[in-house]
Amino acid sequence: MNEHNAAQGPDFIEAGRKLFSGPVDFIWAAAKSDDLPPLGPPEIAFAGRSNVGKSSLINALTGRNTLARTSNTPGRTQQLNFFAMGPNPDDIRLRFVDMPGYGYAAVEKTKVANWNKMLKDYLRGRASLLRVFVLIDGRRGIKDNDVEMLDMLDASAVSYQVILTKRDDIKLADQEPMIAATLAALRKRPAAFPEVLFTSSETGAQIPELRASIMKLLVEHGGAQSL
Ligand code: GTP
Ligand code: MG
Repeated sequence: MNEHNAAQGPDFIEAGRKLFSGPVDFIWAAAKSDDLPPLGPPEIAFAGRSNVGKSSLINALTGRNTLARTSNTPGRTQQLNFFAMGPNPDDIRLRFVDMPGYGYAAVEKTKVANWNKMLKDYLRGRASLLRVFVLIDGRRGIKDNDVEMLDMLDASAVSYQVILTKRDDIKLADQEPMIAATLAALRKRPAAFPEVLFTSSETGAQIPELRASIMKLLVEHGGAQSL
């Protein structure tokens, strides 16, 4: 049922496809909270445990295989990487932010502490941030460190939407129960958007629906009337 809700109708699907077919460029990397780019167009951010598939999802959304760096080794993305997108480079409508993953134990403690501080500072303090997409491994569901992230977003009243990832790696029979369990876990969370997408960056499953959600968000924000 949720999947049909999430589709948001054919108009947003088509508008989302168009939005993401334009030019997109890497514009900025921030290694510390005070290195962030000046505020500009609306931003969306992708957060989640290390290796959950954040960078791969950005590549799937934009149809560019090598835009964001991905890796088998957890801890690949080590900075906040900003990408800008619009019908042309002088008319940027949206930025998206690829974040370092959390929950990766094999990185030095001081590095992890720095990343966590940067994530929190950015997520709690960014006026132009429209929504955080929190990626959860669809094979495992919500884990303790995901709960910490969701608690932080709820406490700071930062709007977020959960995306289950790696759908291609999960048996069909297990997919609906995973969506249902995730929705149930989000029900009492005040800042959670009440829909869950279940994507695959390998097969493209629900990527059009995710583009449609982002398009809808932009329209609601008032920044996309002329798209
Ligand atoms: P960090 O930057 O370390 O936080 O990781 P990340 O969340 O950016 O993950 P990344 O996109 O680098 O992907 C991690 C691994 O998962 C890679 O080996 C990807 O190929 C794999 N992966 C990502 N998305 C999918 C997917 O939809 N399906 C499958 N089967 N594998 C995926
Ligand atoms: Mg990454």
